[in-house]
Amino acid sequence: MKLSAKQTVDVLRAAGEPTRLRILALLEREELAVLELCRVLDQSQPRVSRHLKLLAEAGLVERFPDGAWVFYRLTGAGRQHEVIGEVLARINPDDPILARDRRKLDDVQAERSDAAQAYFAENAAQWDQIRSLYVADANVEAEVLAAAGQQRVKRLVDLGSGTGRMLTLLGPQADHAVGLDLSQQMLNIARRNTLEAGLTHVELRHGDIFDTRLPEGSADLVVVHQVLHYLGDPAAAVKEAGRIVAPGGKLIIVDFAPHKLEFLREQHQHRRLGFSDEEMGRWLAEADLPQVGLQALPPTRQDGLTVKIWAAQRAPTQLRSAA
Ligand SMILES: C[S@@+](CC[C@H](N)C(=O)[O-])C[C@H]1O[C@@H](n2cnc3c(N)ncnc32)[C@H](O)[C@@H]1O
Repeated sequence: MKLSAKQTVDVLRAAGEPTRLRILALLEREELAVLELCRVLDQSQPRVSRHLKLLAEAGLVERFPDGAWVFYRLTGAGRQHEVIGEVLARINPDDPILARDRRKLDDVQAERSDAAQAYFAENAAQWDQIRSLYVADANVEAEVLAAAGQQRVKRLVDLGSGTGRMLTLLGPQADHAVGLDLSQQMLNIARRNTLEAGLTHVELRHGDIFDTRLPEGSADLVVVHQVLHYLGDPAAAVKEAGRIVAPGGKLIIVDFAPHKLEFLREQHQHRRLGFSDEEMGRWLAEADLPQVGLQALPPTRQDGLTVKIWAAQRAPTQLRSAA
């Protein structure tokens, strides 16, 4: 449905202010916390929050609390979104103010990613113990096996494979498996673990979940286990994971339900404190992957976390849309 003239004026009025336009341009890159926006824009929190409120009221951005933080992202669908996309696409990319914002956001992202990389490099050797601090591994693994099903898998891909636990779990039922990770330290340990498990058909690759360089529709089973909560743009990672799922293939995502353990951000580099079913369901739908399963594993100890297992499957003969 088209926008009414009044709706169009409301959208343009909301976007038609220098700081608000800058905010929209920044959020076009990825979802951001309010404090990150303040840092890039070099403006106070009350001021930035006021602008965000106006943008949210006009339906241009959506606000979502995550533990004690509040994040914003562009509203993903609808005519308002199209109008804003059109406006942003027409701005000269060399515009000095927007270019400076982009550079500052690059710095914020680089700091975040350096801190995460350093964390994974430092903790690779202890990762298996760290992972089991808040969840009971055995329960999660039983559910992952159930979600994968017992049939043989031609091509398994584990994105953010860490020490290779998912590869040793699911590798025996796969003809070929690829584990992809950004951390060389993690890859080295995964190499050792999969060889020790006798899984010589597992290939470990250095790569980025946002740009896997794997061909579209090339995997019958894709697993993303406890990775999304570290990422700046989890929606983009789900999209890329979905892109490589073959017709009839499955995507299994394991992550936390929303929680409030703030210290995990500082001490363990978590960016998001879990994901809601609504949010994950939306990302799976956008990736053209109907959800076929959802399990919630409640914590087995008082300070534990609920683990969610979302399973989705591409229709057997479905042709991917151009998007
Ligand atoms: C918490 S570990 C989980 C590892 C494994 N899936 C598991 O559950 O044991 C997260 C892994 O994601 C990797 N990672 C983080 N960002 C990544 C990215 N952009 N691309 C690929 N791997 C990434 C880290 O190096 C780390 O090995």
